Amino acid sequence: MLPEAAIIDHAVVLLQAGELVAFPTETVYGLGADAANPSAVRRIFAAKGRPADHPLIVHLPADGYLDNWASDIPRQAWELTEAFWPGPLTLILKRAGGVPSAVTGGQETIGLRVPAHPLALALLRAFAEAGGGIGGLCGVAAPSANRFGRISPTEAAHVRAELGDAVRLILDGGRCGVGIESTILDLSRGAGAAPRILRPGAITPERIASVLGRLPEVAGQPPIAGAAALPRVPGALAAHYAPLTPLRLLPAAELAHLAEAVTAGQRCALLCHSRLPATPAAALLVRQLPADPSCYAHELYAALRELDQSGADQILVEEVPSDAAWAAIADRLRRAARGAGGQDLKRLLSHPSGPLSVPRCDEE
Ligand code: TXA
Ligand code: MG
Repeated sequence: MLPEAAIIDHAVVLLQAGELVAFPTETVYGLGADAANPSAVRRIFAAKGRPADHPLIVHLPADGYLDNWASDIPRQAWELTEAFWPGPLTLILKRAGGVPSAVTGGQETIGLRVPAHPLALALLRAFAEAGGGIGGLCGVAAPSANRFGRISPTEAAHVRAELGDAVRLILDGGRCGVGIESTILDLSRGAGAAPRILRPGAITPERIASVLGRLPEVAGQPPIAGAAALPRVPGALAAHYAPLTPLRLLPAAELAHLAEAVTAGQRCALLCHSRLPATPAAALLVRQLPADPSCYAHELYAALRELDQSGADQILVEEVPSDAAWAAIADRLRRAARGAGGQDLKRLLSHPSGPLSVPRCDEE
């Protein structure tokens, strides 16, 4: 095997040639391309099967490169980069003049972050040292390295399974530490408008408030809503992070009971974080995740993949607590449930022993 420096050099050559390179970040694996190269960016959309009007996050080696990509950067942005970069926070800012519209999906704003994973940082720094791609802008566009709408990858093997030969090189950094995607905070709405969380993540509203002195709004919630309340799932992107197997969320008390009920003629797989009084006999597979939200997030997507591949007809997931520390996980689970078929649990519960039709989930 090549030493790490040689692999990074090879990755940089590929990026400069407009090829795709997958790399680990502290959140999930990203599918990278030179963000200033529109044809390389189009390759990302093609590999993911993602609509071209969905903007990509651009990854930077350090906050000193922000000016290449963003304009009218508010003071709050610098305060947040100082506190949280490198780290799992994406800032939405007004885009700078020379930024190609391919990477922003035609929008006037751009998502930017400096990831905390050492391999990602090594790649981004080496890319900058080698000239930083077209125009020397030094940004690597990288959505999560999964097919559109599917579960984000947290291991190199997941990327290969998702994207196959569409990606020229996958840098293997082992399992991602955080395990769910970055918090996205919109600071592009101009002076006076409150910062707004578009996607919850490991950087919570409280941590943002500890820097800015005020709680951000959360998309889908009224502006004065408490941070503990959960963000509503926005319509268009509700079906996301989804396994192929239909997935249901339900309280612990119903988990074992429902597992028995729905498995008349069906096989189910269970994901829980509480200790079940007994393993339902009909469960094909039970995965118990840690009851701590950070540890749960670290393992969540790998567990969902495992359950999805178990051959089960249903994945039943124990609901997570409704406090702020679990908000990002609750958000991902709700979207996974929606994306995996969207069957109405009430209908399921009202016909617990009847045969269930189990539609497969279509890609968004
Ligand atoms: O943790 C992460 O953020 C990972 C790693 C690889 O960095 N990336 C990631 O990218 O999750 P992706 O493309 O799967 O999700 C990015 C989200 C999309 O929902 C996209 O719509 C939103 O960010 N986004 C990007 N630019 C935006 C913009 N200018 N305005 C609003 N939303 C934006
Ligand atoms: Mg994604």
